[in-house]
Amino acid sequence: MIKFLSYKLKKLNPYIPGEQPYKKMIKLNTNENPYPPTQKIKNLLKNFNSYNLRLYPDPTTSNLRKNIAKRYKIKYEQIFVGNGSDEVLALSFLAFFCQKLPLIIPNITYSFYPVYCKLYNIKYKTIPLNKNLEITLNKMNIPNGGIIFANPNTPTGHAISYIEIINLIESHNDSVVLIDEAYINFGSESAIPLIKKYKNLLIVNTLSKAHSLAGIRIGFAIGSNHLIKGLEKVKNSFNSYPIDIISELIAVEAIKDIKYLKNKCNYIIYIRENLSKKLKLIGFRVLPSKANFILVKPINISAKDLFIKLRNHGILVRYFNNLNDYLRISIGTIQQMNYLLETIKWLYLLN
Ligand SMILES: Cc1ncc(COP(=O)(O)O)c(C=O)c1O
Repeated sequence: MIKFLSYKLKKLNPYIPGEQPYKKMIKLNTNENPYPPTQKIKNLLKNFNSYNLRLYPDPTTSNLRKNIAKRYKIKYEQIFVGNGSDEVLALSFLAFFCQKLPLIIPNITYSFYPVYCKLYNIKYKTIPLNKNLEITLNKMNIPNGGIIFANPNTPTGHAISYIEIINLIESHNDSVVLIDEAYINFGSESAIPLIKKYKNLLIVNTLSKAHSLAGIRIGFAIGSNHLIKGLEKVKNSFNSYPIDIISELIAVEAIKDIKYLKNKCNYIIYIRENLSKKLKLIGFRVLPSKANFILVKPINISAKDLFIKLRNHGILVRYFNNLNDYLRISIGTIQQMNYLLETIKWLYLLN
């Protein structure tokens, strides 16, 4: 009944996540990792003592934060952990972007950003991508109450250079610059080393993609002590225990196994480049990607028609209403990519 709903709800336009199908399909629509997380997690779960579940988890997630600190050679106080990077982002919007001036967002990026703006009543201004669908950081040089972008961007896969990022931060030391590095492990350079110098820089990352742990919901932020304290204040006004005991233990194993992570990501990069080359040979436009997905424009068939036909053949890719000439394809296993290519070729023969 409408009368019971808060006035806030009327303005909300929630994020629509990619479909999680009930039947078995080749799932290439939400940039999950096709390979398992580190094998060390198997032993951990086998030996886990369920008696420990009586207790609330550690509200400071200290074990995981210590391990993240060690891995990135930063201080424990510079790390914040949340229930998926979606939660870390949501708390960051509340902590830093409720300002008089608008938040700056690329016009095509992770579509959750404008959703948070509406939730918190944050004014925002979108900056168009250039004709190659690349983020143009120099166009963001306008008065603002914060800047957010994903590097590499989604759904395009475009990565921004280190030097462009430094130029942007140097021109905006009065507002928080948040870089969402969800896809950073697939071939681009992290801005984490810059947090020592720039106190207004916040980097957000996730274990959902490169670490193959979308199922446990762990994300984290790295920034100056001041920004991290801001995030803790908001978190402790909302939910003291966002990370459960089992997820924290699993995440620690994943963070420690850097060798496995690097091998897996290099393999996904190899599959991505191979798939891109083969789709180009068919005539597709394929945008250069530094992520675990590619954005493609099919020929002689609309993106929407191809999306539907692939779906009918058991392959789920992502179609976006705001980018309707293109499809985003997550990188799967070699076998899945071969099946995708064969299906596309077959559909062209039938056309
Ligand atoms: C750019 C970007 N940031 C954040 C997220 C959310 O990741 P998580 O699973 O950590 O909530 C996604 C998920 O697809 C993403 O594409």
